[in-house]
Amino acid sequence: MARMPNLRLARAADARAIAELSRDLIERGLGWSWHRGRVLRSIRARETNVLVATEGEGAGERVVGFAIMEYGEVRAHLSLLGVHPEHQRRGIGRSLLAWLEKTALLAGVRVIELELRESNHGARRFYRELGYTEIGHVPGYYRGIETAIRMTRGIGRRVASA
Ligand SMILES: CC(C)(COP(=O)(O)OP(=O)(O)OC[C@H]1O[C@@H](n2cnc3c(N)ncnc32)[C@H](O)[C@@H]1OP(=O)(O)O)[C@@H](O)C(=O)NCCC(=O)NCCS
Repeated sequence: MARMPNLRLARAADARAIAELSRDLIERGLGWSWHRGRVLRSIRARETNVLVATEGEGAGERVVGFAIMEYGEVRAHLSLLGVHPEHQRRGIGRSLLAWLEKTALLAGVRVIELELRESNHGARRFYRELGYTEIGHVPGYYRGIETAIRMTRGIGRRVASA
């Protein structure tokens, strides 16, 4: 069985790899808004956690997945979540989200919200599997090009263990 990657908070040096994953996996066809500078600002922001899943060590370390969550007082927003295609369906997305949900819960957050592309049926199934509910559509949310689905999950004692 393949070894699970490590999870750790992102460092400045990870910003390029994260931005490129966002461009290729999440923003395809929409332009590139999560460029390196924006990711770097999130890494440095106090109210945001940028989490990476990595494989390998030292100079051979590679980012294979990432997630960005912004924390409010009782609500948190999952801005991005992506796992490199060669590493999908190994539980990495689930682990990244569980880590962030657990941290959010400790910070007093009770609701996680996110938007995703309406056409992204795989990710919609992923979030449903993890307890998220589709609560609405936002037409034109993605640069006027695509509708977003808004999903939410109330967290509490039921948060999955990482
Ligand atoms: C969505 C995504 C993050 C899931 O990451 P992952 O590491 O592959 O997911 P996991 O292995 O943790 O999957 C957990 C469960 O979710 C469900 N699931 C995940 N991907 C799925 C898919 N494509 N189709 C159907 N169900 C899926 C399955 O039930 C899976 O459990 P199983 O593999 O035991 O059946 C990943 O597919 C991805 O990066 N997609 C491209 C970017 C993206 O769409 N991001 C989300 C919007 S920001």
